Amino acid sequence: MAAYVSLTNTSLEQQAVQPSCQQPLAARQPAKRVRLANQRPKATATVDRPKQETAAEQSFAKRMNSNYEAVDSSQSGWRLEHWSSADGPVEEASTPPSSYYMDPQAFQLETRKVFARNWLAVGHTRQVAGIGDFFTGRLGDVPYLVTRGTDGELHAFHNVCRHHAAAVAHGCGTTQQLQCPYHGWQYDLQGKFRGATRTKGIKNFRAADQALMPIQLDTWGPFIFLNFDPKYQGPGVEEWLATGGQAMHTYGMDNPDFMYAASADYDIDCNWKVYNDNYLDGGYHVPFAHPAFTEALDIDNYHSKLHEVVSFQVSPLAQQEPNSEDPIVRSITENRRAGGGEGPKFAFVYPNFMINKYELWMDTFTTIPLAVDKCRVHFDYYVHRSKADDKEFVQQMIEGENIVQQEDVGLCQEVQKGLQSPAYDVGRYVPSTEFPMFHFHQQVHRDLMR
Ligand code: FES
Ligand SMILES: [Fe+2]
Repeated sequence: MAAYVSLTNTSLEQQAVQPSCQQPLAARQPAKRVRLANQRPKATATVDRPKQETAAEQSFAKRMNSNYEAVDSSQSGWRLEHWSSADGPVEEASTPPSSYYMDPQAFQLETRKVFARNWLAVGHTRQVAGIGDFFTGRLGDVPYLVTRGTDGELHAFHNVCRHHAAAVAHGCGTTQQLQCPYHGWQYDLQGKFRGATRTKGIKNFRAADQALMPIQLDTWGPFIFLNFDPKYQGPGVEEWLATGGQAMHTYGMDNPDFMYAASADYDIDCNWKVYNDNYLDGGYHVPFAHPAFTEALDIDNYHSKLHEVVSFQVSPLAQQEPNSEDPIVRSITENRRAGGGEGPKFAFVYPNFMINKYELWMDTFTTIPLAVDKCRVHFDYYVHRSKADDKEFVQQMIEGENIVQQEDVGLCQEVQKGLQSPAYDVGRYVPSTEFPMFHFHQQVHRDLMR
């Protein structure tokens, strides 16, 4: 059963003084202090890398790597099923075998090789705008913590106490230091161990070895990305996004004039890739699954473009302004009147981050794997500053978005059931529209094989 988990609509007046810090997979906590907008330090855009590997970091890296080997090991007798179409071309290709969507070991392998090795969008700099702000989250079995340190920089850590592995922080908020709720070990906002009670008599104990384990962090525009691979030496996010990032900028997806409006979470009974596949079919399902949405679009001229780790779908607007009371149609019409009528742009950043950009509205969302047949989709909604006081518009956009999401949730759950049927294994791509999906599958496959 799909569970529609929550929809949080913070009023924009509240938003001005009390930043939202909703996070995927983290229990919400109210911010512990009110912060004024003019107290915000500048967002940092530097890659936050550990400078020198300590003994503890080396041992952590070793354990992570042994996990990869264990999943792949011939001793387990398990092998990822061969995907014969990985090299294409899309015109001749079949989709990956259904085991990719239902085998728990394939899911484990993805956790290690897709989610633990790529840059992943986990939040927005508004959530950690002031010194001491923090938020927590979890990707697969990896809990993380992002802070704005007293140095004004962003930092990320594994949210695991060095004493006996409790989470040192929960939810989100603002604090002067981190204190583990179990036995009270303390860490500063840069992750350094600061002290513990009753440690008299302990031997061979060096405070420098007890820091929280760092995670590499980088930003693109207002978005925070983490890379969970302790050995990652590749490019920062901007270089990694490459020409896709330049196009995202051209489309205004990093425009600072968009203000946070609300969030929503959907728990869906399907593999995370099923939800991405639905997004990446180049609009093929739109006329059938989203009839109201289709009225507002020139669906015959919907088109897609591939970049290195980003793909785009762009839909021009219907030539005639539709006359409908449906919230999604009305809201697209309002967007149309406000701008050049170019229509929405949809970006997919591999492996699980999506941005839908309208003239006056933007939503971002991440597909978070929970189990081989379960994922959570976390949405953040943003409204253009010029429309921020128009509560009716904001409400209408949120309602319209929810209708479209509910339509997609139903389809995705049906697909997961179908994938589990003994009658189905692989399907074909419709190459003229579904090539972004094929590109996504190739990227997943490439990661699983390396
Ligand atoms: S587990 Fe954190 S102080 Fe003991
Ligand atoms: Fe859809």
